[in-house]
Amino acid sequence: MAELGFEVVGVDTDPKKIEQLAAGVLPFHEPGLPELLRKHTTSGRLRFTTSYAEIGPWADIHFIAVGTPQKAGDHAADMTYVDMAVETLASHISRDCVIVGKSTVPVGSARRLSDLIRNTVAGDNTVSLLWNPEFLREGFAVQDTLQPDRLVVGGDDAQAIDLLKEVYGLPLASGTPFISTDLETAELVKAAANAFLATKISFINAFSEVTEHVGGDIRVLADAIGLDNRIGRRFLNAGVGFGGGCLPKDIRALQARVSELGLDRTMRFLTEVDEINLRRRDRVVHLAKEILHDLQGRKIAVLGVAFKPNSDDVRDSPALDVAAQLYNAGADVSVFDPEAMNNARLRFPRLTYSTSAAEALKDSTLTILLTEWEEFRTLDPSAVGETVESKSIIDGRNVLDPIRWQTEGWRFESLGRKS
Ligand SMILES: NC(=O)c1ccc[n+]([C@@H]2O[C@H](COP(=O)([O-])OP(=O)(O)OC[C@H]3O[C@@H](n4cnc5c(N)ncnc54)[C@H](O)[C@@H]3O)[C@@H](O)[C@H]2O)c1
Repeated sequence: MAELGFEVVGVDTDPKKIEQLAAGVLPFHEPGLPELLRKHTTSGRLRFTTSYAEIGPWADIHFIAVGTPQKAGDHAADMTYVDMAVETLASHISRDCVIVGKSTVPVGSARRLSDLIRNTVAGDNTVSLLWNPEFLREGFAVQDTLQPDRLVVGGDDAQAIDLLKEVYGLPLASGTPFISTDLETAELVKAAANAFLATKISFINAFSEVTEHVGGDIRVLADAIGLDNRIGRRFLNAGVGFGGGCLPKDIRALQARVSELGLDRTMRFLTEVDEINLRRRDRVVHLAKEILHDLQGRKIAVLGVAFKPNSDDVRDSPALDVAAQLYNAGADVSVFDPEAMNNARLRFPRLTYSTSAAEALKDSTLTILLTEWEEFRTLDPSAVGETVESKSIIDGRNVLDPIRWQTEGWRFESLGRKS
């Protein structure tokens, strides 16, 4: 937002994060963002605070982007943080302004929050709520914010929508489509987009189970159906499946919300989508057992713990889950990830955290690639073969060339092909 030309104050309840950000230090990995953070903390256009009292009377427009994690012991979204942020903000507002929700929320939340705002804001200040779901991809957050592929806004206050259009003036001028709709549709667009993407991944992974069984090549199948432009090749990469802080919790929350509305069967297919996804993790562990017979005390190198490359996010990471399962089965698991080591260590401290891929691979009896960082995609099977104890590899992301590895004497397994 500062790069788009605005004066911005970032608010978080976590004082440590605010302290880091104010010092120009990004508390997570996101390509291109450290440079923008430094540029605008220096230019003075971007400040940080933990104080709602500071921003309530100040801003023309407030974006709410706090977390909506899965509730403990339940599939529904935990709305505590959004409710708290909106209520605290509303109680500090002393002027006309617009609140724009960006968090991914269950359908119906925005209308409920509009009532909360109306009942909380003091005096006769006019405060409108719009919902503007966020579609950015971790790893491409800067690009997706400055040049989004679409902007969706729910709400019916034309003046507030015009103000939001001003905020997005630059991307709109360069042709980004702007879809204006009601609050419910805006909330559902985000849920539908994530449900579709998750389904596409689990669809190809379900076919993986079949090709593994009958003998076939899932990559060829994906290429062949992907050439049909009604289907498209993207998100048809068979592998260890999806994870992260969005898709898993969002498909569960959607299902929970739709059931709550009485439409019990409507989103039931998402249970299958979730289960197919989790079964892929088990498949990797199964393959490891097939290769090593007994995992007890065997040294396994796991390449990647982030849920995807170019991110240090390990929330619901398939890679970290598989590494933990192997550890729990008795293996001595050495992991390496270019960016996600600290986050992984916090979640699962008992793995061996190596300082490089080479260190993780040294003397290993099995190598498993689980996050497709460029550094792992370009590994040289000949050089790697010199350092391992046994030349066996599982490509959990189908990104390595099996022929190249087999020619160098490796036992090569991947997902979606008969082993
Ligand atoms: N991460 C993504 O790629 C992505 C993409 C699209 C949409 N979303 C959605 O955006 C939302 C945020 O996701 P995230 O990954 O950034 O979550 P996160 O958990 O990483 O960050 C949420 C932040 O909100 C802060 N917070 C909590 N309560 C607060 C309050 N009352 N006031 C101020 N700050 C508060 C937390 O301290 C934390 O720093 C979620 O709804 C998510 O589904 C995320």
